[in-house]
Amino acid sequence: MAKYYHITTYGCQMNVHESEKIAGILSGLGYTACENIEDSDIAVFNTCCIRENAENHAFGNIGMLKKLKANKRDMIIAVGGCLTQQIGKADTLHEKFPYVDIIFGTHNLNKLKELILKKQKQKKAVIEIEDSEGSICEGEKPLRTSYPNAWINITYGCNNFCSYCIVPYVRGRERSRRSEDIISEAKELIAQGYKEITLLGQNVNSYANGTDDISFPELLKRVAQTEGKFRLRFMTSHPKDFSEELAKVIAENPKICHAVHLPVQSGSDSVLKAMNRKYTSADYIKKIEILKKYVPDCAVTTDLIVGFPNESEEDFNDTLNLVKKVGFASAFTFVYSKREGTVAAKMDGQIPEEVSKARIMKLIELVNSQTREQTSHYIGKTVEILCEDYDAKREKYLGRDEYGRMAYFSSADNKIGEFVSVKISAANGMSLAGELI
Ligand code: SAH
Ligand code: SF4
Ligand code: F3S
Repeated sequence: MAKYYHITTYGCQMNVHESEKIAGILSGLGYTACENIEDSDIAVFNTCCIRENAENHAFGNIGMLKKLKANKRDMIIAVGGCLTQQIGKADTLHEKFPYVDIIFGTHNLNKLKELILKKQKQKKAVIEIEDSEGSICEGEKPLRTSYPNAWINITYGCNNFCSYCIVPYVRGRERSRRSEDIISEAKELIAQGYKEITLLGQNVNSYANGTDDISFPELLKRVAQTEGKFRLRFMTSHPKDFSEELAKVIAENPKICHAVHLPVQSGSDSVLKAMNRKYTSADYIKKIEILKKYVPDCAVTTDLIVGFPNESEEDFNDTLNLVKKVGFASAFTFVYSKREGTVAAKMDGQIPEEVSKARIMKLIELVNSQTREQTSHYIGKTVEILCEDYDAKREKYLGRDEYGRMAYFSSADNKIGEFVSVKISAANGMSLAGELI
């Protein structure tokens, strides 16, 4: 009889890609993907804990499975990812949801097969959280679900310890994959027909730091030199490590998209210091100037946090002013969320929710107005779009240009995986719409 799996993913691109690795493991065990969790024989939750709401979301959805599991006793429920790796959280999960069969951490993804086989032989829940990061597991074949886009991990973990952030605690210390493994994975994916490669790490600029391997700009250059037509992106860059050399590599290699995600978090120097970001707002602006000197048309996107402990109105205004000055193509905006175990969680001066809410509304309004202004300039222009998907509701294909702008268009034929020319006729806030030419 056919056996089905269902994976629910929360959090960042890293997790999305890790879910592809989980899918690879499950299909190796003979399971097939299914749309509805109700039909699954194994349901995996790949969780995130970057902010409290990400955690609550996962807890809520796992809670909803109680009834299903009661009617479907043989079903296996497995919970993994960053949430389970937090100290004490695996026990909380087990107590709250005793019907969860497997709880595994971020460092033992490669053991999932073993854990499933173990669970099939015992009644008791299998709980395995490793404290220390394992070595990098090569050879875990992901089952990629996002053609024509493919993600490749280049580093795992993070050493930066930004004072608000849980990632270093749940993902461990930074470790880099060997460049030859990364380059050959990219080559293989391009040969298979993938059209966009994104190199992934919490701080890609510090790739291979302290080892004898090549630097990140060099790695990027070598991947970009692979034969064939494709786009190359990378995520995420930390401003403190963003170098002139990297800007030059972007400028000199046409396959590297002119789009850089460079999270600034705040425009206030005192907040940046308390966040342990290791740069000032002037340093950040300087990096943008260097980038634009070599890549004048580069789209810069960012992440911003409001309501960090002790953030004053003046600090917040510094953030607004920096946003005005840089003119981001788009930005992710977050209300600071206190994460147990981080340095910021122990700080006095937590900001009342209503203050943070008012600030984020103001910030979103500014960011959106900039994005709208930028997209309006697209009208009448013809852009090259990599078609990524079909939106059944809108009955339109969609894809992005090299700067990351989403565009919708109609087509009688399936265009997924093709580079197409679209003449833009409308800009709807964040996205564009046009006609194939
Ligand atoms: N490694 C990347 C991204 C990490 S998480 C980087 O350093 O840029 C993505 C974003 O989540 C961060 O850039 C930050 O803006 C946000 N974030 C992280 N911790 C947060 C917290 N405790 N509260 C609110 N936002 C947070
Ligand atoms: Fe978190 Fe900072 Fe590391 Fe990014 S660089 S993952 S924000 S600690
Ligand atoms: Fe990503 Fe969330 Fe973990 S943002 S690294 S899945 S805490």
